[in-house]
Parts: sequence; C-alpha cells; structure tokens
Amino acid sequence: MSTALRGQSIGVGLGRLDGVPKVRGTALYAYEHPVPQPAYLHPAQATIARGTLVRIDTGAAEALDGVLAVLTHLNAPRLIDTQDPELLVLQSAAVGFRGQIIAAVVAETSEIARHAAALVEVAYAPAPHNSAFSVGEHGYISPGSAPGPPRQVSEAEIEAALAGEHGYVSPGSAPGPPRQVSEAEIKAALAAAATAVDQTYTTPPEYNVPMEPHTSVAIWNDGILTMYESTQGVHSFQAGLAPLFGLEPERVRVIAPYVGGGFGSKLEVHAQAVLAAMAARELPGRAVKVALTRQQMFSLSGYRPPTIQHVRLGADLDGTLTAVAVDVLEQSSRTKEFTEGSDGPARMMYAAPQRRTTNRPVVLDVPVPTWMRAPGTCPGMFGLEVAMDELAVACGVDPIALRVRNEPQVDPETGQPHTSRHLLECLQLGAGRFGWDHRDPAPRTRLQHGWWSGTGVASATHPDWYEPDNTARIRFDADGTYVVQIAAAEIGTGSWTALTQIAAEALGCPVQCVRMEIGDSSLPRASVAGGSFGTRSWGAAIVAAAGAFRDQHGAHPEPGAETEAQAPELNDDDLSRHSFGAQFAEVRVNADTGEIRVSRMLGVFSVGRVINPATARSQFIGGMTMGVGMALHEYGVMDPRFGTIVNHDFADYHIPTCADIEDLEAIWLEEQEAAPGPLGARGLGEIGIVGAAAAIANAAYHATGVRVRKLPLTPDAFL
Ligand code: MOS
Repeated sequence: MSTALRGQSIGVGLGRLDGVPKVRGTALYAYEHPVPQPAYLHPAQATIARGTLVRIDTGAAEALDGVLAVLTHLNAPRLIDTQDPELLVLQSAAVGFRGQIIAAVVAETSEIARHAAALVEVAYAPAPHNSAFSVGEHGYISPGSAPGPPRQVSEAEIEAALAGEHGYVSPGSAPGPPRQVSEAEIKAALAAAATAVDQTYTTPPEYNVPMEPHTSVAIWNDGILTMYESTQGVHSFQAGLAPLFGLEPERVRVIAPYVGGGFGSKLEVHAQAVLAAMAARELPGRAVKVALTRQQMFSLSGYRPPTIQHVRLGADLDGTLTAVAVDVLEQSSRTKEFTEGSDGPARMMYAAPQRRTTNRPVVLDVPVPTWMRAPGTCPGMFGLEVAMDELAVACGVDPIALRVRNEPQVDPETGQPHTSRHLLECLQLGAGRFGWDHRDPAPRTRLQHGWWSGTGVASATHPDWYEPDNTARIRFDADGTYVVQIAAAEIGTGSWTALTQIAAEALGCPVQCVRMEIGDSSLPRASVAGGSFGTRSWGAAIVAAAGAFRDQHGAHPEPGAETEAQAPELNDDDLSRHSFGAQFAEVRVNADTGEIRVSRMLGVFSVGRVINPATARSQFIGGMTMGVGMALHEYGVMDPRFGTIVNHDFADYHIPTCADIEDLEAIWLEEQEAAPGPLGARGLGEIGIVGAAAAIANAAYHATGVRVRKLPLTPDAFL
C-alpha cells in the first residue's frame, strides 16, 4: 500500500468537485432529469384552515385542452395508512390546514396544469379553527396579524400548563417527566437566589427556503417506481414512500445526485412526492413531474415552529448559577405532531444544582412543521443565551466570565463525562480575536454619526450524533480508478468532496484516483444528510471499506476487485457528546430610524477534526448568515383569521442578501483526536446558526440599552 499520500487529503481545502457542473448548468437537479413523455402535476390547495370538502367540481379543469387527469379525494387511488397523516394526500374530504392539497391536475405542460388547478371549484363546510400561537400577556402575536380577538389563554392557564397539569398539551404527546427538580423546588431556589432572571423569549415561524423547491419526478415500470427526488436521504425517502403504495422499499428506486439545499425540509417525504407517484401510476407510460412553487412551499414543505420560552435563572451575587428552569411552548399541527425540542440546550449548557426543563406542543390548525437547521438547539439557544446576557448585566459580570464561572465539569443533567468540551477555549480565542477586552463596560455608550454600536457574545452547541447504519463499497477499475459507492446525499454542503478526500486518504491514493458515487438508492445503504452526522458517518463507512479492501486485495489490486464494509459502532453511549462554539457580533443601530445592521461577526467552533477547511468554513459562515436572517429578517406572519402565512414568498419573507452581510469570519480550534470514530471529526453543518441570533440581540442591547426578547429584531423595537 502506498503510504506516501497518507494525511495529504484530509485537511486540504480542496475545491468542490461538484462546483464545475453546477456553475456550467450541467448538474442535473430532480426536475431536470430527462424522462420519456413527461406530464406535469400542479396541486390545488385548500383555502380554509379547517373543515370538510362538501363539493368539488373538476369539470372546467378536465375540459381544458392538454389536461390528462384531475385527482381528488373522490377518485384518487387509496394509499396504505403508514401513520403519517401529512402523506395521506387526497384520501378524505377533511381539511386540516390552509394550503393542504385538495386536488391535483396532471397535464401536458406545467402551465396548463397550473391554469387547470385554478379552475377546480370547491365548496367547504368550514369548522372553527385556531391558528393563533399567542399566549397571555407575554404572547407572541405575529406583527402583521389583524387585531381581531386573539385566542389567548390566561396566565393561570399557562401556569397550569407549565406545571404539567393540563392546558396546551396535546392528548397524543408525551412531554415526559420534567427533568430533574419539581416546580416547587425551582420556585424555592429562585426565591433564595441573590439574583434572578425571569423572562419570556419568543421566536417566530421560520422557513427553510432552499433555493431548489421540493421536486419529484415519478415513473412506474413493471411495478418498480423510480423517483428523481430532491431529498436529503435516498434510503430514508424510500422507506417513507414505499409502504404508502404497499411496496417493499427496494421496489422504489430514488435518485438524487444534486440537491439544491434542504436545511432539514427535505429529510422527510412530503405530500408532493406521494402525489407524483400516485399520478404516474394512474397514467401508464408517462413520467409525472412536480415542482412546488415558492408560495406552495410555505404550507407543504415544513418550517421551524414558533416558540415561547419562559427562562428562569437564579444565581449568587457573582453569577454562579443556582437554578436553571426553561419551560417551552412550541407550535405543532393538528394534522401531525412535531416537537422542535427547544428546551434541549438548557439541559446541558451550564452547571446549576437545581434544574428543570419542560417542552410542550401547542396544537393548532396550521401546516405541519418540520426539521430546520439545528432544530431545538437553534431557537433554544436564543432564549438561554439572551437570558445569560441579562444575568451578566444583573450581576455586573462580563458575559464571558459568567460562562467561565458556570462551566460544568461533567454533563450537568446526566453526570456523564464529555467526549470533548472546549466551549471556554472558543470563547477565549474569540475574545482575543474579536477585541473583546476593549468593550465598553456599560451599554449605550457609543454613538457615532447617528448610529449606536455595541458588541455581544453567545455560546453555541450542537449534539454530536453518529449513525453506524452506513455501508460503503469500493471497486478498483482497470483505468486505475477506485470507485467508492455509498448512497450519501450532497445537499450543497461539500460532502461529495469531503468524502472523496476521506476515501483518498484511507486508500492512500490521490483524490484524482477516487470516483465517489452517491445519491442513488441502488448504492450501498446510507443515512441522511442531517443532524450534522452525514459526512462523519458516511466517512466512517468509507474508512472501514478502504481498510477491508486493502486487507483483501492488497496495495496492487486486480481490476474488478471489490469490497464492502459497514461503519463501526462507537460504544460511547456513556459519554456526553456535543460540539461547542462561540459567536461574537458587533451591531449598529440607527438612533433615528432603529435600523439595525450587523457590522461584524466572528464564530469560533470546536468540531473535532476538519476534513475540508474550505467547505467547513462555508458551512459555518452559511449558518451564521442564516443566523443573521433569524436575528433581523425572518418571520412568517400568520393571519389567524384565515390560518395562512401572509408573506409566503421572497418578496415579503426576507432572508439575508449580500448587502446584509458585512464582515463575517469563522475559525475553529485545531483538534486532531477530538471525537470518537475513525475520522476524529464531529459534525459541523448546523452549529454555525446556533447562538448567532442571541449574539446579535445581545450586541443590540449593548449598543442601545434596549433588551429585545422577541425575534426578529425589527427597527420598531429600538424606537
Ligand atoms: Mo438538518 S435540520 O438535520 O437537515
């Protein structure tokens, strides 16, 4: 085996191997795959938030030239109920949220299909609905919603809900036992504390908005269904779709070589894919293509649910925490329950003897939420890290010193040792790099040319997950190429490139000699691109396969030599496994208009060994950019009268553009052996967004003296 190149592939900032085809436009996304005789599907959506279809007239749609079929609940084929109500599309007359699919037109062109969908006539028997996520006087009410009677509950009801007796707890949900001490014990600890913070923080509905919409192309051939799909995992997609049609998973082939972003919204099967498969089966010989419109995505492809986070911290005079209590309400959908899990980070971030967190879904008549970059951790670290900043102010302690003071030796909830916890190094390295020492001690002291400026800090964390159910196959070809196969997904993160580097290093050959084949369910089994565990888990399978290949075939294999191996189990269940980071932000707020700009941001991360510094940096600053969006721009405006998100397009749902991003920098600790597993790498796709919004909100407080506890930080908050 050639060892000369060992160690020369991992750690190199190799340019994206998929970059050239993407820039040239030759990379095929799902919708673009050439298929024989394509037909085009367009869904029609419900215009009420809850009720029943009493009449549906498809005559005008069917009469349109070029229309091939109009599917409704009256004529659509029956699906097998796999206990995922979001996917039981066109199976009944019930409407569970506004925007739910109630019909679908298949036509010779997408334009005809879209036009015909608008001709479907519907009559409803509406039922009373509740789409307003608002609670008592702390309530989150979307800024754009009409004043109408808000469906609010009293403080007493909230107290009861938080105490876990009744209230906004859905019957089917299992919030589980409150973690650690009782509410009475927390109250006593807070009453005895020298300083306390007791505040409520809110985050709004946020949307994944990947550039490529949710897209499916379905073709049936001899009982085999082929799907070209925009998905974060071909095998998980296969497992989700096949049973609806009574198929063994292997009878559904899923192909997804290029995916234009997902941010979690493409982890699960969504209704449009089921529809495409259903329609294609009804039209023998035709492939059916569907791409959701941007507006449809706001009700059909998931979103991060809004949260209301009641955070209580008790501390000694010097800021040493004595109690941490976080009680979270999160929006969920009556159609299908989803739990974001925003109480998660409070459970493991800081030491405190008295701890209690709860998390409860608020079940409403709204579209179904889903995973979005750093689910739970991201919104949860907004409340917790702003509360920590408030505690620092209350105690007169520097925010970094406060975190140093409360650094736990072991996981504070479980008592387990950490695999690696370098939060303080991140904070300290960042403080030096950012110039934290020169920070004004008091808020609202720096006014220049009509702009207040200030700085803020927040911690970041993300669970360090790993999935051993991954298999890689390596074959040596006559042209000297190692073909490395695993059904991994490239969703724009650079994983295709990183896996090539991992394979080259593990095989001891140049990257040019490796050809990675991914994104096809006919390849060896792979887990999703999600939870930040994709590359490290797929990579572990590749390392295992490379080792087995060399053992079996030696350094000079015969053409055709082939070996397959599975990723190892890590046996680290008795350890606390998380990544950490620190976010620093400098903002300026216009003294007259309240306009807020992020002048500068620095993220410092501890993620184990970095496979590719170029794509890693891109993930970090991508996450931080999304964090700027979370801090300043993004909120879905629910109009509770209609149960609709009003700003359901890029004209009104704002995400950061180049003009919003000024000086953004991401660095990381040099760690070679920081994580269990053959690579020493932990995940890094999600941690970049975590804490970013809190750092910006804390900087805004430091700039202006105005504490904003509700995202996003719109200018009116500072006036
Ligand atoms: Mo991520 S929300 O696990 O794609």
